[in-house]
Amino acid sequence: MYKVLLLPGDGIGPEIVDEAVKVLHAVEQRFGAQFEFETELVGGASMDAHGIPIKPEVIEKARGVDAILLGAVGDPKYDDPTAKIRPEQGLLEIRKQLDLFANLRPVKLLDSLVGASPVKDEVVRGTDLLFVRELTSGLYFGTPRETRDTPEGKVAVDTMIYTEKEIERVVRVAFDVARLRRKKLSSVDKANVLDCSRLWRMTFERVAKEYPDVTCENVLVDSASMWLIKSPREFDVIVTDNSFGDILSDEASQVAGSMGMLPSASLGAGKLGMYEPSHGSAPKYKGKNLINPLATILSAAMMLRYSLDMPEAADAVERAVESAIADGIRTRDIWVDGTTQVGTSEMGDAVAARVLNS
Ligand SMILES: NC(=O)c1ccc[n+]([C@@H]2O[C@H](COP(=O)([O-])OP(=O)(O)OC[C@H]3O[C@@H](n4cnc5c(N)ncnc54)[C@H](O)[C@@H]3O)[C@@H](O)[C@H]2O)c1
Repeated sequence: MYKVLLLPGDGIGPEIVDEAVKVLHAVEQRFGAQFEFETELVGGASMDAHGIPIKPEVIEKARGVDAILLGAVGDPKYDDPTAKIRPEQGLLEIRKQLDLFANLRPVKLLDSLVGASPVKDEVVRGTDLLFVRELTSGLYFGTPRETRDTPEGKVAVDTMIYTEKEIERVVRVAFDVARLRRKKLSSVDKANVLDCSRLWRMTFERVAKEYPDVTCENVLVDSASMWLIKSPREFDVIVTDNSFGDILSDEASQVAGSMGMLPSASLGAGKLGMYEPSHGSAPKYKGKNLINPLATILSAAMMLRYSLDMPEAADAVERAVESAIADGIRTRDIWVDGTTQVGTSEMGDAVAARVLNS
């Protein structure tokens, strides 16, 4: 029996988590597993009910489960730029409290989806890369961060901060996963300008000496953003800091066809992980049965692999997704001429049925 905490969150979060749970029920039947699901609030949903983006009790509960499956957070009604608390803080808080410092974001373009990418077929076909994004430090967590009034007008400050230890532990994760793939690791930084990036590069190069079998390179972030579109197949594993990873992985989603195709796993030192799509709460699509649940379903597959030790079930879910897409079943974001457009829930049904019959 595995305990899974569900944090559906806001916007499309509840719909996509429902579809992932549907697929996990199929895994229970097909593989004889048992999941005990509990649902809690995070983000705007928690602010509505409790006035804060996540309750301390929810974080405590998260420490006691085998894995966490999260939808997305963010609600336009809390978008006031002067607000002191925001839904997104719930997500940052749980990542930080559970020390989930390594965010793995695979970007794999299925052959049957080549036409859905806005980038040319001959450039994107065969793309299979993995971001390892540092998740609990850097620009999104550094202090001071504030907007203050001065005699010259308002001034805003954010702080980018990294310790050598924080860099080293995420870089080691990246080297370890590179060893299990094509053994190429690109470290992305801005070492020509930022001190944090120079420490990042020095640490990367020191650790690299322990992994002589992995081919390494340093790439500046501006150049990396260009190469990702020009020749994405050149990349295998990309390790980078919190903010660069956030931005570059959204860019890379277009290579994979859609934001709706990008899963992620946030891992720490132990087995516990939090699994969530790389996209946000897409509020304008809320409750319309239009959006793509596959990023969340593929995140559930990562959960089966990394936290629940069920690699066969993870393979089965991934194969089921590939087979549904190859059979021409598509949500609107990945629909092309000659395929069948379905809703969020029908896409979940299609994957669950294929898991059962695998
Ligand atoms: N991890 C998170 O929870 C997370 C991440 C990013 C943004 N956000 C929040 O989400 C809210 C909306 O942000 P945004 O609009 O910039 O980003 P978003 O990722 O929610 O949506 C951007 C666009 O991507 C497309 N998209 C996203 N998910 C999709 C899916 N599953 N299927 C099909 N298309 C999909 C839609 O066209 C959408 O308009 C904001 O409040 C933001 O802070 C949360």
